[in-house]
Amino acid sequence: MGIEVEVSGQSCGALIRGVDLREELSPAQVSEIRGIWLDHLVVGFPDQELNCEQLERVALYFGVFGEDPYLEGLADHPHIAEIRREADETSSLFADNFHSDWSFLPVPPVATLLYGIDIPPVGGDTLFANQQMAYEALDAQTKDRITHLAGIHSARLGYAPQGRYGESDAGRSMAIVYSEEAMATHSHPLVLAHPETGRKALFASGAYTLGIDPNSLDAAEMTAEEAHELLIGLFRHQAQGKFVYRHSWSAGMLTMWDNRSVLHAATGGYEGHRRLLQRITIAPFDQPQPVST
Ligand code: SIN
Repeated sequence: MGIEVEVSGQSCGALIRGVDLREELSPAQVSEIRGIWLDHLVVGFPDQELNCEQLERVALYFGVFGEDPYLEGLADHPHIAEIRREADETSSLFADNFHSDWSFLPVPPVATLLYGIDIPPVGGDTLFANQQMAYEALDAQTKDRITHLAGIHSARLGYAPQGRYGESDAGRSMAIVYSEEAMATHSHPLVLAHPETGRKALFASGAYTLGIDPNSLDAAEMTAEEAHELLIGLFRHQAQGKFVYRHSWSAGMLTMWDNRSVLHAATGGYEGHRRLLQRITIAPFDQPQPVST
């Protein structure tokens, strides 16, 4: 049986069946999956039963392990982090605002793989907002206005000592390590042309983009107020329902998304149930493999 694709019919997203990820994949299979992923931006592989080694092997078909600040990896698999919420946990939901993973890094991860282990019977979907579609839907004047602007990205709202997951965050079961380093900033263009497909996407999020870089081309004429209003308008625009795909999980499902093309956000609604997934971020093939500590 060959690879089968079930398209979500929403703004992005597809399920892939007919491939056993426990087995090594041929270059032709990897290339076919890569093509499907680039077309649909988020792909889910239901009914897989992967151990950590198999999960890592699958990840390495698509890039090298990414740098993962602020989340402690598993002791024997440092590139795998757990997204965990216990049944009786009362801390705020993790990552429930739209973001592109670690966009504050100089080289953010191209992809994230998330593998479902304990999946609650209700709730816990992940939302994906297609940022290629969001860019396309902008009027010509706004596209022109933002083409040469850069956004200032930072982890501080989440991972600095004063941030959401910082020193006052109590009772969380996830292994989050907050740090002063989260105060650092890094700028990226507001509009990214995809290096493989050339399709343009908005690259900013309310979670990690703090402002518009005043040093970016075209920012000179803009007041701080105008820059703020522009950014808030983009945040509102990019998360509209018409750009969103709602991804439902099942135990044994591996999901891979393109951080250059979609934003994602966790959802709740599973109080009283445990939710546990394993996550690997992937950097481009030309990046040096981070040294695990
Ligand atoms: C994440 O942002 O990595 C987690 C998404 C989720 O828990 O659905």
